[in-house]
Amino acid sequence: MSWVVDNQLTRFQKFCVNVIKCGPIPRHIAIIMDGNRRYAIRNKMGKTEGHTKGFERLAECLLWCRELGVKEVTVYAFSIENFNRTIEEVDTLMSLAKEKFERVFEEKDKIMMEGIKIRVIGNLSLVPEDIRILLAKSVLLTKDNDKSILNIAFSYTARDEIVHSMKTVVEGLESKKIKPADVDADLISYCMYSNQSPDPDILIRTSGEVRLSDFLLWQISQHTQICFTSVLWPDFSIWHLLGCIFKYQRAFPGLKKYADECQSNRKKLNDRITSFLGDIEKKRMEQMEIYAKT
Ligand code: FPP
Ligand code: MG
Repeated sequence: MSWVVDNQLTRFQKFCVNVIKCGPIPRHIAIIMDGNRRYAIRNKMGKTEGHTKGFERLAECLLWCRELGVKEVTVYAFSIENFNRTIEEVDTLMSLAKEKFERVFEEKDKIMMEGIKIRVIGNLSLVPEDIRILLAKSVLLTKDNDKSILNIAFSYTARDEIVHSMKTVVEGLESKKIKPADVDADLISYCMYSNQSPDPDILIRTSGEVRLSDFLLWQISQHTQICFTSVLWPDFSIWHLLGCIFKYQRAFPGLKKYADECQSNRKKLNDRITSFLGDIEKKRMEQMEIYAKT
């Protein structure tokens, strides 16, 4: 299945999308796509097929988000912890990733026409080289698109991301690009892999597990509506998505008040920090170029 699926919403679904669009629409939704293997067992299929169905659901969910006007989606595609699964399963997930990221180039015209920017957040040094090249090339290919953003957390855990951010801060201090007084929670946020994204408005986890599993822990700590649902990811439908957005809309006045307070408490960046952050972004894109050319 393609990354960009054709719009197949029924009239009734379109009507409901338009009703939901009368209320506040989240700018950024994060998703823990859990339950692929249980779906496979339940439907008497192999694990590979369960994960493939999971990808198909992701492609559809991205379409629903575009229809709803949700600008940014972040998905947990592969956790660093997932490297501890059996060799067969890690290979299956890697093969699926390889196939899907090769498709990015086959579907280049569609992706560019839809203006989809693909970003990858995670520790790419742990990823097999052939996949790392494809991930880096996908990021570089789509870097100037800005209509909708898909952040793929691959070889990611939040604790690894926080450690990465702290190391970046320490490097900045050691090279004297920043001063100890510049270090605060905002600076740590700006040094995360996800520093280009606003904090998620909604976090969805499917499959009935009520855990955060080391996903975006820093970013969801303040004003994110968390939505746990028992549906297995391959069975996630537009109705589940609309239900989560409806919950967000009901909570919106309180969430917005808190989000506005957080925003107004942010300090204005000084020139030193601005230049340091510019260097980080430049380095990150240079690293992508290096990975892509390996
Ligand atoms: C969790 O279900 C799902 C994963 C670990 C993989 C998620 C990946 C996809 C949906 C495919 C996306 C692919 C790309 C290339 C973006 P689980 O395996 O933990 O299932 P279980 O909870 O039922 O055991
Ligand atoms: Mg699971």
